[in-house]
Amino acid sequence: MTTAGRIQFDEWADLYAQRVETMRTSAVRDLFAAASRSDIISLSGGMPDIRYLPLVEVSEVVKRAVLEEGIAGLQYGDTKGREETKRVAAMLMRDQGIHASTENITITAGGQQALSLLGMTFINPGDNIITEGPTYLGALQAFSAFQPTVHTIEFDDDGMRMDLLEAKLKELGPRGAKFIYTIPTFQNPGGVTMSLGRRKRLLELAREYRIPVIEDDPYGRLRFEGEHVPCLRTMDDEVIYISTISKVFAPGLRTGWIFAPSPIMQKVNMIKQGADLCGSALNQVIAEHYFNDTDWRGTLNTMRERYQVRRDAMLAALDEFFPPEAKWTRPTGGFFVWVTLPKYVNTPQMLSVALEAGVTFVPGDGCYPSGSGKGMNAMRIAFCYEEPEALREAIRRLSLVIEERLALYRAFIDAGVLEAE
Ligand SMILES: Cc1ncc(COP(=O)(O)O)c(C=O)c1O
Repeated sequence: MTTAGRIQFDEWADLYAQRVETMRTSAVRDLFAAASRSDIISLSGGMPDIRYLPLVEVSEVVKRAVLEEGIAGLQYGDTKGREETKRVAAMLMRDQGIHASTENITITAGGQQALSLLGMTFINPGDNIITEGPTYLGALQAFSAFQPTVHTIEFDDDGMRMDLLEAKLKELGPRGAKFIYTIPTFQNPGGVTMSLGRRKRLLELAREYRIPVIEDDPYGRLRFEGEHVPCLRTMDDEVIYISTISKVFAPGLRTGWIFAPSPIMQKVNMIKQGADLCGSALNQVIAEHYFNDTDWRGTLNTMRERYQVRRDAMLAALDEFFPPEAKWTRPTGGFFVWVTLPKYVNTPQMLSVALEAGVTFVPGDGCYPSGSGKGMNAMRIAFCYEEPEALREAIRRLSLVIEERLALYRAFIDAGVLEAE
């Protein structure tokens, strides 16, 4: 209906592109508002604890960036990013054993833009793509704009299960998927790390079925214990590698990158021209100064130690408070624990009760493609942002909410209506 020549909002429904129908808002981003209430303890966001950054030093870095390179920083720049920023990305990758030429690096607005650009480069509507299940919900959001069919492969404590991947590849056939997207180290949301044996097998299978692999590695430096497992990119130079400074410095600077073989980078760069012309040069200058001129390794070590203490506090609280029916992962790095509850417990429904009780988490269904019906009895809980005492309290509160649900479930089992798992 139009009144006085103006379109009514309900009439806009058929104007939107089809892709909007299959997209949904991120549960985490929606939770940000609630999580800022002072009585709420947030286990939802994967936010680095930037409260521990040396802010005086960072402000010096920002000042120097403006004074020394303000002209370049305030101007349009190269679509691919500043040469010096690419050198910083190359240095960060070298630490992970990856030797990259800056020619094959493009600086992006965080890892998130890297995912979106790769989605735009590879996916036509209806194309198959393969991811871990559960996987990073931001990747699902980025890819869903291009309307793929997402096939999810379960993980266990050693990462993505290769028997399931092989079966899926057989089903889809050679070149049957556009890419395999994986977060092999300290996976989001699982916290698990793919073993070396499985990494080798993944690359063998990808070669056999001629399917590109995208390795997303934001958490690789945040190891608390155990042996470093080599990045996929160090074992195969066809792997498309993406990373970010978000978890090791500052997500607010929106600085990440893609490192991939030249033919792919040419396509990505062409698409990026249309997406943003170029990223923020000033943010890149700030990142360069931070990584070139400060003791960022020392700062990161301190932060990593804090994350480890928090991981310990969360795992101890889970052992203390969570019911025997619950299972959870035991990450050796990163930010997240993945909890699985009996299948009768519905975590999306539980969220509002948990909010009342003063704690937030990410319901597991958000980490699967929408409509898959998976993850409804699971949740992602993050240990990166709250202090150990708050984490313990949050787990205690959450356990009460879960106990309430389980009481019902146990009563049904006792009455013979449900079978115990
Ligand atoms: C696996 C993974 N990839 C990419 C990102 C995006 O990070 P950013 O865009 O801040 O670089 C995140 C953020 O949480 C992540 O967990």
